[in-house]
Amino acid sequence: MKNCLIFSAAGNTSLVTLLANKLKVAMGLLEMRHFPDGETYLRIDTDVTNKNILLVGEIDHPNDKLLPLMFLAQTLKELGAKKIFLISPYLPYMRQDKRFKPGEAVTSRLFAHYLSGWIDGLITIDPHLHRIKNLADIFTIESISVLHAATKMAEWIRDNIEMPLIIGPDAESQQWVAEVAKIVDAPYVIIQKTRYDDSNVSISIPEIKETNRTPVLVDDIISTGASMQAAIQELIKRQFKNPVCIGVHALFNNHTYDNLIKAGAQNVITCNTILHPSNKIDISDIIVDEIIHLQSSIIKK
Ligand code: R5P
Repeated sequence: MKNCLIFSAAGNTSLVTLLANKLKVAMGLLEMRHFPDGETYLRIDTDVTNKNILLVGEIDHPNDKLLPLMFLAQTLKELGAKKIFLISPYLPYMRQDKRFKPGEAVTSRLFAHYLSGWIDGLITIDPHLHRIKNLADIFTIESISVLHAATKMAEWIRDNIEMPLIIGPDAESQQWVAEVAKIVDAPYVIIQKTRYDDSNVSISIPEIKETNRTPVLVDDIISTGASMQAAIQELIKRQFKNPVCIGVHALFNNHTYDNLIKAGAQNVITCNTILHPSNKIDISDIIVDEIIHLQSSIIKK
C-alpha cells in the first residue's frame, strides 16, 4: 500500500506483523521506553511526512497504555503524518455506557471523547455496544469501521465441531449468536443472565431438546469467565457434552482460562484481538479487507 506506514503502539506484535505482511505496508520504527520514574520516552525513527498511519494498539487493560498511545499519535501528527487510523481490535471502556447509580462516570463517552481528540479513524471488532447503538454517537472522528468476527467464528465451528448447538450466555449475545448459528446451520438458544457484581452472575437456561449436540458458548468478551462458568456448570448438570467456549476478545484475568477448563469446558477458543494462547481464530483478514476498502476512499484523500 502506498503512502501508508504501520506502527505498533503496544502489545499484539504478531497481529501487527500479519497486517503489515498482508497489506505490504512498511513498519514504522520507534523507540519507546520508560524513564526510571515510569514516564514514557518516545522517539519516532521513520520519516512520516505526508504518510497515513495505521496505528495498531492492543489497548485491553487500557489505563497504562493510553497515555503512551496518545503521545505516539500526537507526535506522528507533529512530525507531518496525514491521518491516524487507530486499529484497536478490542475497544475498551464500552461497558459502562450509563450512569447506573447516581454520580457514576459514564466512561464509554469520556473514553470516546478522549480518543476523538487525536485519531482520525478507528477500526475495531465487535465493540460492546449495548445502550449506545453506534460508535458514531460517542466518537467525533472522520471514519469508524465496526467489523464483526461472526463469520470467522462460524468457520472455526464448522471446521471443528460436529453437530454444534450455539448458546449465547446472555440476551446481549443474541446478535452474534444468531448470525453464527445461521452460518453453521445449527440451532441456537439464549440464556438469561443476572449479574450481581463484577464476578457473580446467575443464569437461567431454557428447556433444550438437542442434548445430543455439542454446546458451543459464544460471547463477545470473556473476562472473569463467570458468565461462561455458570453456563458450563448448568449444561453439564443437564447431561450435555462438555461445552466449547468461544469468545471474540480474551479479556482474561490470570485465572479465567483455568477456571473455565476446571468448570468443564472441553476447549476455550478466542480470536486474536487480544494476544493469548487460546487465540485460534485469526481475524486479520477482516481488518485487511477493511483497510483496502478504506484506501479507495478515505485513506488516499
Ligand atoms: C457482557 O455483557 C459481555 O457480553 C460478556 O458476557 C461479559 O463481559 C463477560 O464477562 P465475564 O466473563 O466476567 O462473565
